[in-house]
Amino acid sequence: MKNTKYAVGVVLGMLAGAVQAQSVDVPAAEALLKKSGCMKCHSVSAEKEGPAFKKTAAKYKGQADAAAKLQTHLMSGPTIKVDGKEERHDIIKSKDDREIKNAVAYILSR
Ligand code: HEC
Repeated sequence: MKNTKYAVGVVLGMLAGAVQAQSVDVPAAEALLKKSGCMKCHSVSAEKEGPAFKKTAAKYKGQADAAAKLQTHLMSGPTIKVDGKEERHDIIKSKDDREIKNAVAYILSR
């Protein structure tokens, strides 16, 4: 029975981790997206040059690899069309994996 306390601690730790993975730090995500210039072309609910985040969230709803896809999109700068011209998509201004994942989770939860 000596290990019971330890086991409960591990399970609680895992639960806390799972909850944390889902919750989004909204102010941090908004600050990073603003700093990265994303809001010039995107908004949460209005179509601008780029699709509204709500639309992207709907497009990827239920897709298990959505976050990975968007993270790649935001880190690799794929070629996109803006006003009929080919351009490279902006790259997010962060090298911190947690910060980027948080911004992606923010977009996918709009
Ligand atoms: C110059 C305008 C412009 C800027 C700046 C820009 N985007 Fe985009 N973005 C677009 C356009 C246009 C598309 C649509 C591309 C397509 O459908 O091929 C797009 C697509 C996207 C998508 C959807 C990708 C998908 O797979 O459906 C996301 C998410 C996104 N941008 C996020 C961002 C973030 C985050 C930033 C800041 C780092 C950013 N964008 C900066 C124009 C822009």
